[in-house]
Amino acid sequence: MKLKDRVAIVTGAGSGIGQATALLFAREGARVGVVDLDADAARGTTQQIEKAGGQALALTADVSRGEDNREAIGKTVAAWGRLDIFYANAGVPQWPGAVEEVDESVFDRIMAVNVKGVFLGAKHAVPVMKKQKSGVFLITGSTAALKPRPGGQCYAASKGAVTTMTQSLALELAPFGIRVVVIAPVATETPMLPTFMGKKEVDEEGMRRYVATVPLGRLNQPEDIAKAALFLASDDAAMITGSCFLVDGGRCA
Ligand SMILES: NC(=O)c1ccc[n+]([C@@H]2O[C@H](COP(=O)([O-])OP(=O)(O)OC[C@H]3O[C@@H](n4cnc5c(N)ncnc54)[C@H](O)[C@@H]3O)[C@@H](O)[C@H]2O)c1
Repeated sequence: MKLKDRVAIVTGAGSGIGQATALLFAREGARVGVVDLDADAARGTTQQIEKAGGQALALTADVSRGEDNREAIGKTVAAWGRLDIFYANAGVPQWPGAVEEVDESVFDRIMAVNVKGVFLGAKHAVPVMKKQKSGVFLITGSTAALKPRPGGQCYAASKGAVTTMTQSLALELAPFGIRVVVIAPVATETPMLPTFMGKKEVDEEGMRRYVATVPLGRLNQPEDIAKAALFLASDDAAMITGSCFLVDGGRCA
């Protein structure tokens, strides 16, 4: 087991990439704080982990709020005494649109969740990790940071911001034994995918258009990202920090 006796928090773990990662981390021995804005979704993932014999804590929180981050981390540390891995994965997508038609509130919410949410996660998780002199802080970025698609200006900018934040945090935290890595997935088959495509539901046209941009000829499954996150969170990645880890089937090559 790669994460035996570790304590992890995964945000946005009620669905998609976060859920697949929380389940895999638990299978690999971690106790997992399952953070999501959607209380039922957080409970659902927690129940799946417990059914499989693992330990999990459902934590309802909005990552864009400082107090929610403080509480979720506080409850996890109170339950299990430490925090080895924090995966800042929660994010919101953007419906593609011409810049002049995008409402300011769309920009504000995307930045609040995708950027400020990551900052707040670090702000509250790092003091615990510094005391331990060890920790791994993972972030879900996106290939949108490196090879954006038209019409997703706010989303691409938010993922660009956390890609740069990763480098800055990695340098700041290396002296404390804390590693920081951003994972950049290409389009992934989760409930978020249709929004990127500008559709209510994924259809053949959308899939054809997206798959055509991925040299390996398919989109990610959430488990593709979970496996990368497991590697990066584990001691196998002990010399990896400040990197942008692409899981993109060659999209950015
Ligand atoms: N699906 C893709 O194509 C894709 C590609 C690249 C990157 N990503 C990124 O992956 C991450 C996970 O997305 P996903 O595809 O698994 O989507 P998803 O919609 O399946 O899951 C996102 C989860 O985050 C939760 N969430 C949203 N806002 C929150 C908040 N403020 N506080 C706490 N939880 C919140 C949602 O309730 C949901 O359970 C996001 O950061 C997203 O930007 C997704």
